[in-house]
Amino acid sequence: MSDKVPVITLDGPSGVGKGTVCLWLAKTLGWHILDSGSLYRLLALSAGDRPDLDDVSQLVEFAENMGIEYVSSEAGLRIYLDGEDVSEAIRSEAVGVWASKIAAVPEVRQALLDKQRNFARAPGLVADGRDMGTTVFPDAELKIFLTASAEERAKRRCKQLKDKGVSVNLSELTVELKERDERDSTRSVSPLVAAEDAIVIDTTDLDIEQVCSRVMQLVEQRLLKV
Ligand code: C5P
Repeated sequence: MSDKVPVITLDGPSGVGKGTVCLWLAKTLGWHILDSGSLYRLLALSAGDRPDLDDVSQLVEFAENMGIEYVSSEAGLRIYLDGEDVSEAIRSEAVGVWASKIAAVPEVRQALLDKQRNFARAPGLVADGRDMGTTVFPDAELKIFLTASAEERAKRRCKQLKDKGVSVNLSELTVELKERDERDSTRSVSPLVAAEDAIVIDTTDLDIEQVCSRVMQLVEQRLLKV
């Protein structure tokens, strides 16, 4: 019998709802979760204000040496960077923008590859990102790619931030999101693209329950053989 850990990848652009679906799926299956975007966000925080994107060796050093800890608690998942709880700090739009700039550096992506693969532990892993199905877990059992129009994604992100008490401007957020998508989709290494064998779900007109139910159908067909 193979002792390979089963992996489900969920990729897609910013604000498409991957995080919510992945959390729900990992909890439902009792599997581990990899929020790969959080690694790029942690790196952006580690590198400080306005990091020098040309200083590749320093970025790689930060990537290799940052002290990361994910701690599950009743209150949800908390994320620590060098001992400090940065769970909220890494979610700001500014950190997201720097994360996507840093993520375009090929050496940085290489430095984070093994860290991401090490998340695959029994009984299984749900991996959330941009290149989970294409680069990090090319042999995943099930690959899903979520899409939605930029306007719809900006609306969802806006609501999410407002619910957290962060004031946001929808048109600025839409522009920022489109810029980030453009950067993520056109970078030379591991661009944001659906794997050839990924199942694409357009979520523009679906609510979160409908997306979760479609995803679970696929999991049952592919992995649970129901
Ligand atoms: O998913 P999240 O918005 O937290 O990711 C922040 C940024 O990290 C993305 O805009 C993207 O540039 C980068 N990222 C990536 N590859 C991943 C996950 C995130 O390049 N697998």
